[in-house]
Amino acid sequence: MKIVIVGTGYVGLVSGTCFSEMGVDVTCVDVDRKKIDKLRQGIIPIYEPGLEELVSKNVNAGRLHFTTDLREILDEVEVVFSAVGTPPDEDGSADLKYVLEVARSVGQNMKKYLVIVTKSTVPVGTALKVKNAIQEELDRRGVNIEFDVASNPEFLKEGAAVHDFMSPDRVVVGVANERAKEIMSRLYKPFMLSGDRMIFTDIPSAEMIKYAANSMLATRISFMNDMANLCELVGADINMVRKGIGTDSRIGKKFLYAGCGYGGSCFPKDVKALIKTAEQNGYEMQVLKAVENVNEKQKSILFDKFMKHFNGKVKGKTVAMWGLAFKPETDDMREAPALVLIDLLLNAGVSVKVYDPIAMDECHRRIGDKVIYCKDMYEATVDADTLMLVTEWKEFRVPSWSVLKKVMRGHVVVDGRNIYDGKELKGNGFNYYKIG
Ligand code: UDX
Repeated sequence: MKIVIVGTGYVGLVSGTCFSEMGVDVTCVDVDRKKIDKLRQGIIPIYEPGLEELVSKNVNAGRLHFTTDLREILDEVEVVFSAVGTPPDEDGSADLKYVLEVARSVGQNMKKYLVIVTKSTVPVGTALKVKNAIQEELDRRGVNIEFDVASNPEFLKEGAAVHDFMSPDRVVVGVANERAKEIMSRLYKPFMLSGDRMIFTDIPSAEMIKYAANSMLATRISFMNDMANLCELVGADINMVRKGIGTDSRIGKKFLYAGCGYGGSCFPKDVKALIKTAEQNGYEMQVLKAVENVNEKQKSILFDKFMKHFNGKVKGKTVAMWGLAFKPETDDMREAPALVLIDLLLNAGVSVKVYDPIAMDECHRRIGDKVIYCKDMYEATVDADTLMLVTEWKEFRVPSWSVLKKVMRGHVVVDGRNIYDGKELKGNGFNYYKIG
């Protein structure tokens, strides 16, 4: 089977590579020539564990190709995936410019039946717009070619993207007829050998499922962050509460960790977009608005704890920050709590020394030399008054408290991901603050 994937961002590149790993002949298309040249040499533009090896392997095997020209390949394929970006507009709704450009380009160049599948996260109703855009172009050419559109949202997590794609909990595909359903079943069959987890729905429901899943997960996190703040006030411990409720099979253990707020490219963007979709349809998503507010406030919680410890007298202090990426195993800093925190600290006259195993270059690209970049986690703590743990990378889990005791000027630890043991820290002479 031969397919095309347009857009070599996170979703497009991972999907294309994983399909090729299963023996499908995949061509990935992107308008960015530099990116395509690099990919041809097996150099990938993002940090994602396991991906680079898989790209090289499948390029060498002749199953994974990269090009800037969609036209040259359309005649040979059965399926065109669109995995281009849907950046938020100023008002929070998803911008469909790139999705519709792909649709038009397909309509202008296709010569035979195709299934055009949207993989980007797009608002309900987009598949219909894609269909209309393709049909318009066909009409303009005066040709009559059959085609189908489908919606196939992607649920992979950054940092675990290859695993998530290769062993999905489920694959959701929205289709309008049996012909498209048969083709999509065939394409995903290799991923279903350990049990069929394909869910076929109508197209609007498939589009909604992605937003509903991300919004539910974001809601769990904001709910737990709210609970954590209340626990502090009444003397309860959020970690104990989490264990207590997570063992209820109706609730489940995952995505119940309180912290310094969720970030990344999906949760913030999708929650906003869903609120917007509702608004455009005359409905108010009250729960999701609260989810957003809680998250915005939570991003400053480490700063609030730091201010409280020093009674607001923080000017001239130094903070060591461990972790910059929005979560471990990625260099992605989109909507990262670290960015909000850095701003608050700098505005309060605090100097900030940072260390992250992967995201240092990305941070420098975003904020330049406003902070001090350190070559390892201990260097960041030299003469610091407070250590803030923002991203729970593995290497931060069991630091040497005796070394920290020696090199730090003050002995305050603010733990934004609840990974340290309060008793152990207090035993070592540290003031320890956690979430909840
Ligand atoms: C998410 C969804 O999980 C994925 O299905 C979707 O396709 C894209 O969005 P991703 O953004 O890569 O994936 O990261 P994820 O691991 O879900 O984490 C999102 C944010 O939530 C991170 O900032 C993380 O630190 C935070 N989080 C997660 C918590 O604060 N507590 C938790 O219990 C879990």
